[in-house]
Amino acid sequence: METDALPLPATTVCVTGASGFIGSWLVMRLLQRGYIVRATVRNPENKQKVKHLLELPRADTNLTLWKADMTVEGSFDEAIHGCEGVFHVATPMDFESKDPENEVIKPTIEGFLSLIRSCTKAKTVKRIVFTSSAGTVNVEEHQKSVYDETDYSDLNFIYSKKMTGWMYFASKILAEKVAWEAAKENNIGFISIIPTLVVGPFIMPTFPPSLITALSPITGNEAHYSIIDQCQYVHLDDLCEAHIFLYEYPNAEGRYICSSHDATIYDVAKMIRDKWPKYDIPTEFEGIDMDIPVVSFSSKKLIGMGFTFKYSLEDMYTGAIETCREKGLLPYSTNNQVNREKKELLLNYEEISWTLIKRSCLQLERKNIPMDK
Ligand SMILES: NC(=O)c1ccc[n+]([C@@H]2O[C@H](COP(=O)([O-])OP(=O)(O)OC[C@H]3O[C@@H](n4cnc5c(N)ncnc54)[C@H](OP(=O)(O)O)[C@@H]3O)[C@@H](O)[C@H]2O)c1
Repeated sequence: METDALPLPATTVCVTGASGFIGSWLVMRLLQRGYIVRATVRNPENKQKVKHLLELPRADTNLTLWKADMTVEGSFDEAIHGCEGVFHVATPMDFESKDPENEVIKPTIEGFLSLIRSCTKAKTVKRIVFTSSAGTVNVEEHQKSVYDETDYSDLNFIYSKKMTGWMYFASKILAEKVAWEAAKENNIGFISIIPTLVVGPFIMPTFPPSLITALSPITGNEAHYSIIDQCQYVHLDDLCEAHIFLYEYPNAEGRYICSSHDATIYDVAKMIRDKWPKYDIPTEFEGIDMDIPVVSFSSKKLIGMGFTFKYSLEDMYTGAIETCREKGLLPYSTNNQVNREKKELLLNYEEISWTLIKRSCLQLERKNIPMDK
C-alpha cells in the first residue's frame, strides 16, 4: 500500500501511546498520508519523550500533542473530541510489576472503557482501531500448529502458570473483550489488530519493550527465551501500514491477525549468528528442544482483503539492530573477541610482571641480599 497519497478531505484521528515504539511510527505514517493527528502522551512536557514526534515531517502543521492517562477517567475527552478515528495503541506494559492487578490489568481495561466513553461523548468517532496482542490468541498449555482470529488464549492457564508477561496477556484479553462489547453498544466500529512480535527500525529514543524480547539471544536475557521459543514476527512498518489499511477499508470489523513470519528461537539464533558474527549467540537454549516445531499465525484474512507484507525476518532484525546501534542502545559486539584481547593483555601483563620479578630477584641475588627483605 502506498502511504504518501493524501486522504480527501483531511481526516482528524487520535493516536494513544503516541510516543512509544508502535505509536510513534504510526504517527509518522499517518502524517505522511495527510492525516491530522492528535497524539496522546502522559506527559507532553517531557521533551525527551516527545522530541521524536515533534521533529516528524508535517508535524508543525498536522500534529498536536495531548495529555492523557488511562488511569484517569475522562482523560481522553479533549483529544478525541472532533476526531473521526481513534488508534488505541497505549498500554501499561510492566512485566516486573509488584501489583499487576492494579498497575497493569485494571488500567488496561478501565482505561479502554473510559476511552470508549470519550468516543461516545464526542459523537464524531466512526472507528476505533485497537492494537491488541498475540497474547490474546495462543497462550495455552499445548500449542497448535496454526492459529487464526477464532482462537482465544486460556485465561485459567495464564492465571495458574503466571509465566513471564502473564499480567500483560490477561490485560489484553480482557480489554479486547469488554471494549468490543462497549463499542458495539455505542455503534462505534471496532477493529482489533493482533500483531505478533513487532521488530524493526524505530524512532523512539529508548530501548523498545518488544526488542528486549526479540534481541534476547544477543543480550542474554534468559527470562525472555520462553516467549520466542516458537514465535511469530511482523515488521513495525508492515504493522503500521496494516493499521491504516484496515482503518480505511470499508466495513472492516473485528479481529485481524497481522503476522508475516514464524521462527523458532534456534532459527533466529542462527540468523543472528550468521549475519552478525560479532555477537555471541547461544547454540543451545536450556529446556527448549532443538527440533521444536514452528507455530504459525495466519494473516489470511488480512491478505485476502488485499494487504501485502513487504519485509523479511532479516529486514526486521537488520532494522532493529542498526537502529539500536545508532542510538547507542546495543554494543557492536558481545563475542569473546574483546574478552580474548583482554585475556591476552592480562597474559602479557603477567608475563611482563613475572619477568620484572625474576629480574629483581636476580639483582637482589647478585647483591647478596636475602629475598624476604
Ligand atoms: N511491540 C510488540 O511486539 C507488540 C506486539 C503485540 C502488541 N503490541 C501492542 O502494541 C501497543 C504498543 O506497544 P509498544 O511496543 O509500542 O510499547 P511502548 O513503546 O511501551 O508503547 C506503549 C505506550 O503506552 C503508553 N502508556 C503506558 N501506560 C499508559 C497509561 N496508563 N496511560 C496512557 N498511556 C500509557 C506509554 O506512553 P507514555 O509513557 O509516553 O505516556 C507508551 O508510549 C500495545 O498496546 C501493545 O500491547 C505490541
